[in-house]
Amino acid sequence: MRVLVTGGAGFIGSAYVREALSSRPDADVVVLDKLTYAGRRANLADVEDRIAFIEASIEDRNAVRNAMTDCDAVVNFAAETHVDRSIADQEAFARTHVIGTSVLLDAARELGVGRYLQVSTDEVYGSIASGSFSEDSPLDPSSPYSATKAGGDLLVSAHVRTHGVDAVVCRGSNNYGPRQHPEKLIPLCVLNALAGDPLPVYGDGRQVRNWLYVEDFARAIDAVLRLGQAGEVYNVGGPDETENIDVVRRIVELTGRDESLIEHVTDRPGHDRRYSLSSDKVRALGWSPATRLDEGLARTVDWYRQNEWWWAPIRSGEYRQYYERQYGRGISG
Ligand code: NAD
Ligand code: DAU
Repeated sequence: MRVLVTGGAGFIGSAYVREALSSRPDADVVVLDKLTYAGRRANLADVEDRIAFIEASIEDRNAVRNAMTDCDAVVNFAAETHVDRSIADQEAFARTHVIGTSVLLDAARELGVGRYLQVSTDEVYGSIASGSFSEDSPLDPSSPYSATKAGGDLLVSAHVRTHGVDAVVCRGSNNYGPRQHPEKLIPLCVLNALAGDPLPVYGDGRQVRNWLYVEDFARAIDAVLRLGQAGEVYNVGGPDETENIDVVRRIVELTGRDESLIEHVTDRPGHDRRYSLSSDKVRALGWSPATRLDEGLARTVDWYRQNEWWWAPIRSGEYRQYYERQYGRGISG
């Protein structure tokens, strides 16, 4: 089994590489990653000698074709993933999610790859006031991030119907855990709390997210890659639905800080109020989440406490300028 993991130097992609290497000890894993601000070889440091790494964009036809030759499967994680950045400037999102996915699908079809898995998001369905989205719910994305991800998903289903490509789509809810870039709510608040910086909560903080520990998502992706039916979509939701403000309060507790650090700031434009996924279909493949939010959050806070080597270079680089633009103030350190 030879598997190409695009975007494998990111947060979830690198967790999936670890999962693939442990559940398929004989597998050859090839990672192709552009190494944007979010992609880092450090995320793969512990498995570096067990993989082949190619630095390239999924928009690069030659690089993709070379990397995909002789592969039995492709798992595409490559994406621009931060909603706030997509609101400020959407172009890279459109390029990677639509053009990049199109290049990957062309190559998969021409090379006759056995299985293509597109990693997608619950955000393509938009917001839901009550109940949960199923795989048949209509796509109704709110942000440039989710609109362009939906574009990628639709290209995948078009390739299944028109060209007979064996492809599946996996739509995950909000992931958290080790190695997540500090621009995202949980690591942002953990690192700010550790540093004594304010914790910015958008609007009233009562938006609901369906938190999924990253290792659980990696296992679900592997289950869908092995057992999913061609042409099908699989939702993967976490075990807990929680208001943002409660997540932030728990981080305050776990870091031994005081709630006075919490600061309500201007809301995100087009902010989806609630996400909720029904995961019945992926559960029928034998998957279930193993980590509840309380336990996963404690593990995540411990990981960030113990791995300053991982996050210190991020908090001292481009992220500082991004933070000032986004929040109108700096971070300490
Ligand atoms: P991330 O930002 O940590 O990693 C993205 C990776 O993709 C990085 O390594 C980056 O260098 C790489 N990349 C970006 N553009 C590329 C390009 N043009 N060519 C090659 N590589 C490129 O993101 P993540 O949180 O690990 O998300 C991975 C995937 O999972 C994405 O497709 C995302 O939409 C999806 N997803 C994320 C979540 C979440 O909560 N983080 C939830 C559901 C689905
Ligand atoms: O739902 C899946 C999606 O989860 C993925 O597809 C995206 O790639 C991933 O980034 C994530 O999107 P969100 O926008 O939900 O994640 P983020 O961590 O940016 O925000 C989580 C919630 O917290 C959201 O309601 C916005 C809020 N928030 C976020 C930040 C960064 C704040 O209140 N303050 C903040 O500073």
